[in-house]
Amino acid sequence: MNDVRDMQYTTLGRTGLKVSVAGLGCGGFSRLGQGHGRSVAQSVDVVRAALDAGVNFLDTAENYGTEAIVGQAIKPSERDRLVISTKTMIVEAGQRRTPAQVVASLHGSLKRLRMERVDVFHLHAVSPQHVDHAIEVIAPALRKEQEAGRIGHLGITETAPNDHSHAALPKAIDSGLFDVVMVAFHLLHQNARERVFPLTRASGVATLLMFAVRRIFSEPGRLQATLEALVQRGELPAALLEDASPLGFLTPQPGPLGIIDAAYRYARHEPGVDVVLFGTGNIGHLHTNIQSILADPLPAQALALAQQRFGHLVGVGLDAPGIAARP
Ligand SMILES: NC(=O)c1ccc[n+]([C@@H]2O[C@H](COP(=O)([O-])OP(=O)(O)OC[C@H]3O[C@@H](n4cnc5c(N)ncnc54)[C@H](OP(=O)(O)O)[C@@H]3O)[C@@H](O)[C@H]2O)c1
Repeated sequence: MNDVRDMQYTTLGRTGLKVSVAGLGCGGFSRLGQGHGRSVAQSVDVVRAALDAGVNFLDTAENYGTEAIVGQAIKPSERDRLVISTKTMIVEAGQRRTPAQVVASLHGSLKRLRMERVDVFHLHAVSPQHVDHAIEVIAPALRKEQEAGRIGHLGITETAPNDHSHAALPKAIDSGLFDVVMVAFHLLHQNARERVFPLTRASGVATLLMFAVRRIFSEPGRLQATLEALVQRGELPAALLEDASPLGFLTPQPGPLGIIDAAYRYARHEPGVDVVLFGTGNIGHLHTNIQSILADPLPAQALALAQQRFGHLVGVGLDAPGIAARP
């Protein structure tokens, strides 16, 4: 019989908040199932299942279209034990938003969430060319909202598809204004290990991990096609493809679930990672993903091989949903 593990909790960096190590991501391609045609009631059930499994960290955003679902799913009596994160864009249709527009966006989020306060309010998908606007104009204007108790902590997320080298986050961390950052890291995109985690660990800034699995590890055929393209571009040796399962060394059990399990375990145990976000609209996936995140680290030998074979790759598998981007 499989050993079912109970949720584990950690401290979210210098915020001091106690959070589950597995966080429910309400965006990505799934958006709690909304991206796959599920009903609102089915998405509410996904949130409830996460809470019942001990998840107390939920990440949503103005432009995911899931804030109202989160608001509907949460009972007022359980609000205080939950840590809710939402986000706003600081650039819309190519135009920088003003502080007043960002504050209005926050107020809209609170209304949809049916809450008076959000624990972490992120500036969403901030690109290197707009990070100064975030630091100099937007974040200072949000201080009043913090003082009024509508925001617990400020956060910032990078735009992984457009910022493969994590250029925005070091500036944001250095500003001292953000207590939380959201960063992309996975088996084939490991460079946050050198570029971000040393900075967050030194400053106590908390890290939320995105893109642990995304489509590259969850969609059948996508990983193999990606590896073939990398070989063609000369970024991986052709000999890798002689192996029927080039990442098989990470997965003691064969089959598609093996690599998803390995990818979540890989992300969870990376030093410097606080919360691994997982996005799903499927309650079965939710339970297996939580168990993967709670599982033991991958063997040291497999970790060393993953770094040796793939540590040089940058920007692999960082696809985003199309149209007016829901990052
Ligand atoms: N810039 C940003 O701020 C930004 C960008 C990206 C993501 N995020 C945040 O990070 C969160 C996590 O990212 P993500 O949504 O890409 O999550 P993810 O956990 O990396 O990938 C989830 C994808 O894999 C599928 N999947 C998950 N478990 C599976 C399983 N056991 N078997 C088969 N398929 C499985 C899901 O589809 P199913 O629905 O079928 O399970 C979904 O399409 C987002 O929800 C969002 O909160 C933020």
